[in-house]
Amino acid sequence: MLQDFSTPVFREARSNSLETARLTLRRPTLADVKAIARLANDRRIAENTRRLPHPYSQDHAVDFIRTTAKLGSESVFLIEHDDTPVGMVGIDRSRSDAAELGYWLGVEHWGRGYATEAARGAIDFFFEEFGEDHLHAGARVTNPASRNVLEKCGFQWSGVELHRFEALGCSTPVDSFRLSRGVWSSLKSWSRARRAR
Ligand SMILES: CC(C)(COP(=O)(O)OP(=O)(O)OC[C@H]1O[C@@H](n2cnc3c(N)ncnc32)[C@H](O)[C@@H]1OP(=O)(O)O)[C@@H](O)C(=O)NCCC(=O)NCCS
Repeated sequence: MLQDFSTPVFREARSNSLETARLTLRRPTLADVKAIARLANDRRIAENTRRLPHPYSQDHAVDFIRTTAKLGSESVFLIEHDDTPVGMVGIDRSRSDAAELGYWLGVEHWGRGYATEAARGAIDFFFEEFGEDHLHAGARVTNPASRNVLEKCGFQWSGVELHRFEALGCSTPVDSFRLSRGVWSSLKSWSRARRAR
């Protein structure tokens, strides 16, 4: 499939929402709590994301929305397709030297390329909005789908680390990946040139 790194359209000042070819990425509000909790309450998601508890209740979603809004160190987007929430993508900048991309989709929305498309939108937002030269991400060594998403976005493998996963209650090996600003802009230029031909 032709890789498309085309720039999402930023619709509002301070990037409250952005659009990719099929998806809208926007800041979640308390009105989204029910939808988020329904999508997130699945062990297959919790076991692959570091901080998601399981079971995942509406109270968890409320806490998450309030905390991220207050801290301001995490840019979180609800992913919507045809006005229907399908998952979340975010960039955590709480560690100044290592901003990190994370995402999950409701299980019924897996396998349609949405994660890759949403991740590219968030990556583009990150390099446009912030001055950092690298973005990090991780995927459990048992998670080939997420590894594929990262590689399709241009991330390069950088090693294996142990990380604690809330829903597992223990640490587990995670493949670490890194994407540089230079690689991202090369991929975008290459994609634009191919589409112009
Ligand atoms: C990881 C996740 C977001 C992927 O969502 P998705 O929308 O299905 O992803 P995409 O369709 O964009 O891409 C997935 C790729 O992995 C491939 N894939 C899916 N399952 C796979 C498997 N078991 N083995 C190998 N490849 C697999 C798909 O074929 C696709 O690659 P392709 O486009 O080259 O065919 C989704 O599975 C999820 O939410 N998982 C739980 C949470 C999670 O893992 N989050 C990431 C934490 S870092």
